[in-house]
Amino acid sequence: MRKLWGGAFDGDSDDLVDRFGQSIQTDLRFWHQDVAGSIAHARMLGETGILAKSDARRLVEGLEQILTEGPSKLPQDVEDIHTAVELRLGEVIGDVAGKLHTARSRNDQVATDTRLYLRARLGEIGGRLKKLQQVLLESARRHRRAVMPGYTHQQPAQPITLGLHQMAHFWAFQRHGRRIEWITEWFNFCPLGSAALAGTWFPIDRHATARELGFSGPVPNALDATSDRSFVLDALHVSALVMLDLSRIAQELILWSGAESGFVRLADNVTTGSSIMPQKRNPDMAELIRGRTGRAIGNWTGFAATMKALPLGYNRDTQDDKPGLFESLDLVADSLRLTSIMLETAEWNLPRMRKAAAAGFSTATDLADLLASRGMPFREAHEIVGRLAKSAAGGTPRREAVLEAVGPDLVDEAMARLDPVRSAMARSSFGGPGDLGRQLRRAAILLRRPGFGSAV
Ligand code: ARG
Repeated sequence: MRKLWGGAFDGDSDDLVDRFGQSIQTDLRFWHQDVAGSIAHARMLGETGILAKSDARRLVEGLEQILTEGPSKLPQDVEDIHTAVELRLGEVIGDVAGKLHTARSRNDQVATDTRLYLRARLGEIGGRLKKLQQVLLESARRHRRAVMPGYTHQQPAQPITLGLHQMAHFWAFQRHGRRIEWITEWFNFCPLGSAALAGTWFPIDRHATARELGFSGPVPNALDATSDRSFVLDALHVSALVMLDLSRIAQELILWSGAESGFVRLADNVTTGSSIMPQKRNPDMAELIRGRTGRAIGNWTGFAATMKALPLGYNRDTQDDKPGLFESLDLVADSLRLTSIMLETAEWNLPRMRKAAAAGFSTATDLADLLASRGMPFREAHEIVGRLAKSAAGGTPRREAVLEAVGPDLVDEAMARLDPVRSAMARSSFGGPGDLGRQLRRAAILLRRPGFGSAV
């Protein structure tokens, strides 16, 4: 294996040592960022006079050629991406390539590369969040008056609308979008030029490289810049949170596409068959999203354990931030897309949902509210309607029973309030199903704006 070091060593490292420490296969994911970071560094070396202008120009031209030719030309019998790029640069421009590593270290390089890569991926994930929000908003618009059971404790509680339900998920993704913007703002500072841990005596211009790479500025402390991986933990945490919410959607789709519920039919392009039972339509994608959420949580806790008690200064332990990070980011990106497809093509069985909303005595609260609105203390009303529910034994009470409970003056209004559609639409307090128009308008404004802007 070819290395960037060895002058001080007499013997070769053991093959197992090479294999155990090698990260090139993982690193290839951010080869572009590594070369871009080197271009900014080389330009700065020329502009500050640390290298002759002609040398800096050759370095930049060689690196630009590497960007154009792509990663397939990079050697892979090397320790990491930094070695690969420097060796390839030597093949392209000759010995002057050896000047590139002036006033920097792989420690500040890898920290810079990871931030650049993460920034790009989070930008892409933000776009996918917005796409899913668009799908949810359209579904909510279509199903504004589509009544379904609302659940608490997994038991039918009060009738709601599918519109309210879809918008509930919409807001979760608005918060995730905002979280992504926050963490990006926190980590968008540049470690480059911190060198190994302590800066350098060369008169480098860290502000110039930070600016060129689109950072808000340089990380102020060289030791912190090369030691900090809290931005990786932030990204792993947000990834786990996004997956958590996707797993909740997945679980609903799994439950609701089952025969007992039958609220939804997932389209052919997101369902799979069984090799033995010909009639089966399995929601495998939703199950995989639900299951792999465990990996996203594990990647966060796993790397948190790696970072725990790690002393300041670069430690090789942190090399292992990347496999988990890449897995979580890929998982989030794919799962967001799959969820968008599942929801965009889902066929909701609205009559069935409406029927389920009417089953049981799901409008019991409406009756208690009616009595309370006519002056009876709510607690007493709750008691009366509770007895009515008991006598109806899990079903909807008959008119005679209602008459007995509420009296002749209120019986007509009480019977009307047993209608689940009326029940849902009448709850028009801020945020209720009867007030959905307000949310839909607000959501449309947020979606039209670039980025996420606000959490609500
Ligand atoms: N592959 C290393 C990483 O990802 C690059 C930095 C190596 N630095 C060192 N001193 N060995 O962290």
